[in-house]
Amino acid sequence: MKVLMVCLGNICRSPLAEGILKKQVQDKGLDWEVDSAGTSGWHIGELPDQRSIATAKEHGIDITEQRSRQLKAVDLEEFDLILAMDTSNYNDIRRLTDTEDSTKVKMILNFAYPKENRSVPDPYYEGGFEGVFQLLDKACGKIIEEYTTKG
Ligand code: 4NP
Repeated sequence: MKVLMVCLGNICRSPLAEGILKKQVQDKGLDWEVDSAGTSGWHIGELPDQRSIATAKEHGIDITEQRSRQLKAVDLEEFDLILAMDTSNYNDIRRLTDTEDSTKVKMILNFAYPKENRSVPDPYYEGGFEGVFQLLDKACGKIIEEYTTKG
């Protein structure tokens, strides 16, 4: 299973999502690959936002190995599941995938709140990193549940 977390800058939400899912996957001994990317190229090569790093650390997760990268069309072929943090990310991803199977692009919070198409609030300006962490932690638990019981 190869999972890609996607947000706008790949410095706040998707690095947290990557760190959380990697931790849960490791705790369960699963052989999954988890990565993240941004729809924009604004922060390429940068570390995650210091507030994401601090929030992850409070939960025993180190995300300082991560560097921001931009989503590319080939990601849509290479990953099995592409998870958008919000509706604008979802639409941007879909624009890259005309010829690709779009059923693998999903809103991440639909795993925690099915069919509601909820967005993970962007904490870059407003803050609220702990709330973002909690939402993502809940969604990641459901993702593992769903893809390990499906057979
Ligand atoms: P992210 O948050 O998409 O969760 O990484 C943002 C990061 C940077 C900006 C906006 C959102 N920005 O405007 O630079």
